[in-house]
Amino acid sequence: MSQTLVISDDEALTELLNLNLPIYVGTDVVTKTNYKNAATLIEHHPGFHLIICADMSGNENTAELLFKLNEIHHRKTPIIVLGLKAKIPEGLAITSLAGNDLKLIIQTAAKLLKVTPKKMIEQMVPDFFPIKTSFCLTVKKSPCEIFTLKGEDTYELNFSLNENIKAGTIQKLMDSGVDTIYVRCADRLKFVNHVNTSLLSRLSSSETEEEAVSAAEEALQVVREEALKGEVPAPVTTQELTSAAIQSCINIALKNPGVATLLKKLLQNKASFLYKHTQLIIHVSQHIITNTEWGSPEQKMKLAFVAFFHDICLTDDKFAHYKSDTMVTIDTELSHVEKDVITKHAKMAADIVRNFPSAPIGSDVIIMQHHGQVSGQGFAHTYTNSVSPLAIVFIIAEEFSHLILAYPENTDLASKKPEMISRLHSMFTRSKYQKVIETLETITF
Ligand SMILES: [Fe+2]
Ligand SMILES: [Fe+2]
Repeated sequence: MSQTLVISDDEALTELLNLNLPIYVGTDVVTKTNYKNAATLIEHHPGFHLIICADMSGNENTAELLFKLNEIHHRKTPIIVLGLKAKIPEGLAITSLAGNDLKLIIQTAAKLLKVTPKKMIEQMVPDFFPIKTSFCLTVKKSPCEIFTLKGEDTYELNFSLNENIKAGTIQKLMDSGVDTIYVRCADRLKFVNHVNTSLLSRLSSSETEEEAVSAAEEALQVVREEALKGEVPAPVTTQELTSAAIQSCINIALKNPGVATLLKKLLQNKASFLYKHTQLIIHVSQHIITNTEWGSPEQKMKLAFVAFFHDICLTDDKFAHYKSDTMVTIDTELSHVEKDVITKHAKMAADIVRNFPSAPIGSDVIIMQHHGQVSGQGFAHTYTNSVSPLAIVFIIAEEFSHLILAYPENTDLASKKPEMISRLHSMFTRSKYQKVIETLETITF
């Protein structure tokens, strides 16, 4: 773990940094109120990875003194200076921020300590690794020790290594309310590979469509959990599972050319919102590409891949409903971390996809732009032509899917098609978007 020294006499600020830096950036924080106390510590303890200091504290030019100390000792420890009163050159080691904006300080610290948003999520990984109990449904022999949580920090062994798991045991566990099981962190990969392999065989041998839908949904969950842990590059079995699951989603879409029929099957399966909208986006985007002059089979594959991964960082179904920066900002139920993840989920997913050697070229860019922002951060107010043509297809396919899913179950969706299409026309006024929307006139329900 890295170490950060905070020098400031602002108690509220140091408390906030003490609380937030370890959680968000995974760095240990040591605080000192002034330069004098800090200097003694720095001289005896050269190992700080980052120093955050106020520009002044009373009459003391904290930042300038610190800068000189760094120079004397030829140290290159990066310094974040809070306030602009210090007369020191900005450069590789010095970053001056105008004030005490906590979010900006955390972001800058993360950047200087080379902690990516993806790593920020990883920081929260405990000793025991949580896994959805449902992932074990296909496991017949335990590939490692499997635990359940008893009490706050106590784990009870449920299955030993190589223990046969009788059919129905996992279902019983789930029925009794245990929706998460745990494996030791060191066993995680072994467990995941085992689940991947058994899911792969389920995907390829599903006899009924219902089985195919539930295997594809499970695969989406497994790939998501796996991708979020950020193995670089992604394990081979995860990549194989991803390709098989995406192909399966495409097959499900092809077998159900009517949107309403497809939706009915997803509802029968009690599919999660994340999976439902992924499957619908795949369906709609395949239709759009088929009906554009420039469409190609590669683009269909690319969009299916994008649909599979675009919201992979949204770990809760409800997070997929946020569609504007304001919705996120005003929601008092969301924690800081949740707000950050929702705002940056497009960029984070794009970063993850780059670690998938099997990702189609350019899929990361579409994922980055799927909320209309080139930077992958936040949600666009107005949709412009600055995003790529395939991102435009994706944006329309996603919005159309959201509109479909917003109707109550049992709505006669076919009769709502004109209403949905005119909503899209008024939301997306640029001609590139309008052309894509026009292709939806021929989609069947
Ligand atoms: Fe989405
Ligand atoms: Fe999204």
